[in-house]
Amino acid sequence: MSKNIRVRNTFLPFSRPTIGQAEIDEVVDSLHSGWLTTGPKVVRFEREFSRWSGGQEAIAVNSATAGLHVAVLTLDLAPGDEVITSPITWPSTVNNIEVCGARPVFADVDRETLEIDPAEVERHLSPRTRAIIPVHLAGAPCDLDPIREVCRARNLKLIEDAAHALGTWYKDRLIGSDSELAVFSFHPIKNITTGEGGMILCSDPERAKRMRRLCFHGISRDAWKRYSRGGVPQYEVREPGFKYNMLDLEAAIGLHQFEQLEKFNSRRAELARNYDHLLADIPEIRPLGIPSYPHRHAWHLYIVRLEIEALTIDRDRFLLALRDENIGTGLHFPAVHLQRFYREKYGYRPGMLPNAEWNSERLFSLPLYPLLEERDQEDVVEALRKTIKRYRR
Ligand SMILES: Cc1ncc(COP(=O)(O)O)c(C=O)c1O
Repeated sequence: MSKNIRVRNTFLPFSRPTIGQAEIDEVVDSLHSGWLTTGPKVVRFEREFSRWSGGQEAIAVNSATAGLHVAVLTLDLAPGDEVITSPITWPSTVNNIEVCGARPVFADVDRETLEIDPAEVERHLSPRTRAIIPVHLAGAPCDLDPIREVCRARNLKLIEDAAHALGTWYKDRLIGSDSELAVFSFHPIKNITTGEGGMILCSDPERAKRMRRLCFHGISRDAWKRYSRGGVPQYEVREPGFKYNMLDLEAAIGLHQFEQLEKFNSRRAELARNYDHLLADIPEIRPLGIPSYPHRHAWHLYIVRLEIEALTIDRDRFLLALRDENIGTGLHFPAVHLQRFYREKYGYRPGMLPNAEWNSERLFSLPLYPLLEERDQEDVVEALRKTIKRYRR
């Protein structure tokens, strides 16, 4: 029997951060400096982020999940309050609504772009709706104008989950630059990384002050201000908070990553165009649709949908077959409303959000990061073709 020859000899990871000598030197500098936690590098990172956004308040946090948590806390939700969000997201978007004591309500997504559908948002409004948390999925923006209009008309708060949207534009505005509140992620697969980390951009200085406090135990001063020259060690608890501050060690990486954002995003866009080209004649693989409104895509993810009807295996087995060819893939995202906790607590069932569910069974993400090379993409596409051929119905 002939041995199955793999498409690649070595494993192609789904993602890999681009870490240069500047990031390494800056971390070493922090290690030598004697100051590891929140300090001057975090202050610089926040300033640069704020300047880039056109002057928004910027708060560095140790993850986007932490940022979303303190953002949702400032809504002061009461039991029974509702927050509308997307079912196609990482669980933390939804979990943060739940842990703050409110009820997450899901609005279905557009079947082609997977962005939250503003008409579905309107359909789910109720007298208990307090806020909307849309997600800018994969690096494309959701359709913000009609969502903002609903928020204005109904006096609702708007928190943008911008974890994927660093450098994304909606119409003529950079995401975050004119947001009431937006949260970005610097997890290692994101467009820039700090190891783990995130940034909140916010237009209201008072709300920003409260979030900053919630990120550091709810006390009135952070460690840098207490221990640096000119600081005083006393503190006062204003409300119970958390330990969500970014380290200088993390900001050290972030400062040099942020300088390269444009370069990284251009390379991502180039690779995405190449996938479009390479996949054009594979009908079983359908890339996401691109929003029809003006935008600039940050190409955080390259999501495709598998035509499972044409195959004898489902998406999950298809991904295992790709792994056997040494190709890593991602899953962004199975619909959150069908996760066990949300099914059991709220009785969500298949059939409630047809577009999210249809995609949920078919979607997966291909490797996309600046270090990826065109020949790696050719391997990915060869593995797709080979696996489709092997399991064609
Ligand atoms: C849409 C979305 N929101 C929030 C998060 C949470 O980000 P973090 O890992 O920085 O907490 C993620 C992480 O992948 C995400 O994809």
